[in-house]
Amino acid sequence: MKENSAQTIDSAVETIDQQILGVFRLRQGEVVSGAELSGMLRISRTAVWKHIKALKALGYCIVAVPARGYRLLASPEMFVPAEIAAGLTPKRIGNKIICLKEADSTNSLAFKLAEEGAAEGTVVIADGQSRGKGRLGREWVSPDGVNLYCSIILRPSLQPVTACQLTFLSVVAVARTVEQTTTLKPRIKWPNDILINGRKVAGLLNEMSAETEKVNFVVLGIGVNINMRSEQFPPDLRHPASSLLLEGGVPVNRNEFVRVLLGELDALYDAYLRDGYGSVREEWLSRSQMCGRQVRVASQDRVTSGVVKGIDDIGALLLITDNGIEERVLSGDVTIL
Ligand code: BTN
Repeated sequence: MKENSAQTIDSAVETIDQQILGVFRLRQGEVVSGAELSGMLRISRTAVWKHIKALKALGYCIVAVPARGYRLLASPEMFVPAEIAAGLTPKRIGNKIICLKEADSTNSLAFKLAEEGAAEGTVVIADGQSRGKGRLGREWVSPDGVNLYCSIILRPSLQPVTACQLTFLSVVAVARTVEQTTTLKPRIKWPNDILINGRKVAGLLNEMSAETEKVNFVVLGIGVNINMRSEQFPPDLRHPASSLLLEGGVPVNRNEFVRVLLGELDALYDAYLRDGYGSVREEWLSRSQMCGRQVRVASQDRVTSGVVKGIDDIGALLLITDNGIEERVLSGDVTIL
């Protein structure tokens, strides 16, 4: 990890930079005068100018319009904590956001931070990963500057066996986010893939530290192929993979995508802690459209096929196998037949 390229924000405190961006956003591309900013933020005109200069250094395209003021033309393409946090009022998830140019794996880094005592809701985002981790020990291809690699620390008071419900919660949040930021129709594939037109665009890897009876913390790891181009995919991927750009034909603003995602995760997690797993399971089932479908599940040691009946309280896939017996499948790769 290149520590020196980390930018962190504590969302509970709105910085002057965030307040300036908030004014620009409200005025939707209009010119805002230095005098007005100075009056609203109670800082001198020179201080306004210094903050504008700092925002430009972060990649914001802000132009000075002679004798009138400043206009925000474009926000940066890199991840910026202030840009992500704008307008969010997190109960938990997003209270602290750390953005890095590169991590080996955001999950490994978040795990380490959690062991050192990082607070619930801390989010670690990287622009690229040198050793992105996928499910079942696979690699997660993580080129720089195009996708989202994000890990979130949670400290729920749960029995370890139920912690996988958080995987279902996070995949529902990703599906909602894809719907809000694109015109695409995401579908969930058990246990934690997001497919568009049958191709995988996102995956989740949740890791946990626990004792027999109690979870210490969970790291929700979310990878979304946002603006990845065809030539950036390795030719030998196991499953057909794609990106939001390739499926929708238009680039997606990554800061906006994470902002929506963190908002959805925070709301879903709050409802889950209050009301339990029921509504998450319902939404997962309706978004997966897997009930009643004939599938084949390849686990480490065998292949099972049958018709999907649902998922149970700990997220196992319930199958009526070809010889009529109900089976619970805990892990594996599903192919819808
Ligand atoms: C899968 O195999 O489907 C799960 C992929 C999970 C990838 C994400 S990217 C952010 C986080 N950090 C990692 O190293 N992995 C997860």
